[in-house]
Amino acid sequence: MVDLRDLDHADHSTAVGVLARGMRDNPLHLAAFGDDSERRRRSLEQMFTTYFRVSSAQTPIGAFDGDVLVGLTGIAPAGTCQPTASQRLRFIPGMVALGPRAAARLASWLKTWATHDPDEAHSHLGPLAVDAHLQGKGIGTRILGEYCRRLDADHEVGYLETDKPENVRLYERHGFVVIGEAPVIGVTNWFMRRGHAGAA
Ligand SMILES: CC(C)(COP(=O)(O)OP(=O)(O)OC[C@H]1O[C@@H](n2cnc3c(N)ncnc32)[C@H](O)[C@@H]1OP(=O)(O)O)[C@@H](O)C(=O)NCCC(=O)NCCS
Repeated sequence: MVDLRDLDHADHSTAVGVLARGMRDNPLHLAAFGDDSERRRRSLEQMFTTYFRVSSAQTPIGAFDGDVLVGLTGIAPAGTCQPTASQRLRFIPGMVALGPRAAARLASWLKTWATHDPDEAHSHLGPLAVDAHLQGKGIGTRILGEYCRRLDADHEVGYLETDKPENVRLYERHGFVVIGEAPVIGVTNWFMRRGHAGAA
């Protein structure tokens, strides 16, 4: 049984490690960072370290087994998921560190996601991952349950992107509906929305 609690800044480096291991083999990350799994893990670490440093409005939820962080989701509160001009500038060194080809793919990926980002106010879920050796044991379901409970309590719309059909099924079980689909650097992505209880 895991405990859920909000992460604070002190948890961020551990969180980045969990995300990088948990998401290392996702199809989008293979397309962005290549066939070498250790390189993908390092690239994701680099990307999420920059992301959490720059996206200071994030309010992530962590799942803990005792003191050990075993899974988490980032959450960008309404109005904060698309970077400001100054945040874009602060992302640049982290992107450059990925190397020119990976940086170009990441830029294309983020541009496609931004194109699909809904105009309506929404809470934006992600990045979400459970540590690699602990997937399939119900931890992601616990995190999503808590996230959706908060959405309903705050009467908020939720939104996310995902690159795996099995994830689409998981999110559908939590009330998300596919509202779009598009290739992102050659990988099918699904865009999903969840209306809060009592609303469309
Ligand atoms: C997606 C993820 C957060 C789900 O958390 P989890 O603790 O593994 O999932 P749960 O045990 O609560 O639920 C299992 C369901 O998750 C889905 N799922 C997606 N990836 C899975 C995986 N690698 N292993 C097991 N289930 C997975 C399946 O739909 C599964 O349902 P099923 O058993 O009916 O097929 C986790 O598997 C993960 O980190 N995957 C890799 C990173 C990722 O894809 N993150 C989401 C990006 S949008």
